[in-house]
Amino acid sequence: MPVSFQEIDAKPPRFELPTLNFELAYDRPVSLQSLHGRVVAITGASAGIGRACAERCASEGAAVVLSARRADRLHEVAAAITAGGGRALVVPGDVTSEADMRTLVDRAVATFGQLDVMIANAGIGFHGSLGETTAEVMRRLIDVNVMGTYYAARAAHEAFVKQQTGHLIVISSIAGRRGVAGTAAYSATKAAQIGFVESLRAEYAGTNIHASLVYPVSTPTEFHDVMQQNFGHAVRGVGPKQTAADVARAIADCIVSPTPEVYPYRRAWLLALVSVAAPGLADRLVQKYGRRRPA
Ligand SMILES: NC(=O)c1ccc[n+]([C@@H]2O[C@H](COP(=O)([O-])OP(=O)(O)OC[C@H]3O[C@@H](n4cnc5c(N)ncnc54)[C@H](OP(=O)(O)O)[C@@H]3O)[C@@H](O)[C@H]2O)c1
Repeated sequence: MPVSFQEIDAKPPRFELPTLNFELAYDRPVSLQSLHGRVVAITGASAGIGRACAERCASEGAAVVLSARRADRLHEVAAAITAGGGRALVVPGDVTSEADMRTLVDRAVATFGQLDVMIANAGIGFHGSLGETTAEVMRRLIDVNVMGTYYAARAAHEAFVKQQTGHLIVISSIAGRRGVAGTAAYSATKAAQIGFVESLRAEYAGTNIHASLVYPVSTPTEFHDVMQQNFGHAVRGVGPKQTAADVARAIADCIVSPTPEVYPYRRAWLLALVSVAAPGLADRLVQKYGRRRPA
């Protein structure tokens, strides 16, 4: 996995965070047709969390519009969905292309008559010290994670404003709430998504357009493999994890009942809280978290 504080060492942290048990929206009982009639576009739908979102939303009755660069993988996802009685449209594209994101929204509206939800999920990671973070790496992460989110959101915004309804869901990371060693570039892009969506929520206040942030912790997907391919190294993760299906379930629930922020791994919000209330304590806490390169 990428970054993320969620990698806890085998040893327990020196400062134990209290555990609060309260029910969040994503505990809603599953209703198989609860997204019936919605149209959901997903970037990065060829793998991992994006694919899980596509499968979950389709299984709850939504028509899903699948975007990523690997068209063959998107067609596999779509075939599995349609074989199960769902509706899926493949619109291959690169999130770093403004034109591709406009095409994604246009094709969704042309095919299904509307766009209810845009899940801006496509993203890449990088693990390395600042000395190892070249300007090229930094630009690549900004292009995919920040500009990609902007292009998807901007294209969806136009449809949402015309319809006077819509929901933007951005997949950030707990690493955007609190950086740890080796994640400066990645955390910066994930924090940028937070400021972007918080501001949009203020812009959309009083309208029927929603904007939500999702903060997954470490989630086994292809993320590490891609990091290895892109940058020549992988990272080892230990500690709390959730599955892509867990994240997708939390996102489906956020579509049904829009909430500003979603922590699919519930206790992760405590790190965000400590980070604001006691940043020095958070600095010490995260020494115990983080990702490591394999020896
Ligand atoms: N896995 C984790 O531990 C974790 C934790 C917190 C947050 N997240 C966030 O969750 C999101 C999804 O990550 P994941 O774990 O599911 O990773 P993944 O398995 O590697 O999937 C990433 C997806 O993004 C797509 N993508 C990458 N670059 C793209 C580009 N330029 N244009 C269009 N699509 C692109 C990939 O499709 P193609 O290669 O086919 O284009 C793929 O579908 C990311 O934003 C990540 O930061 C992940």
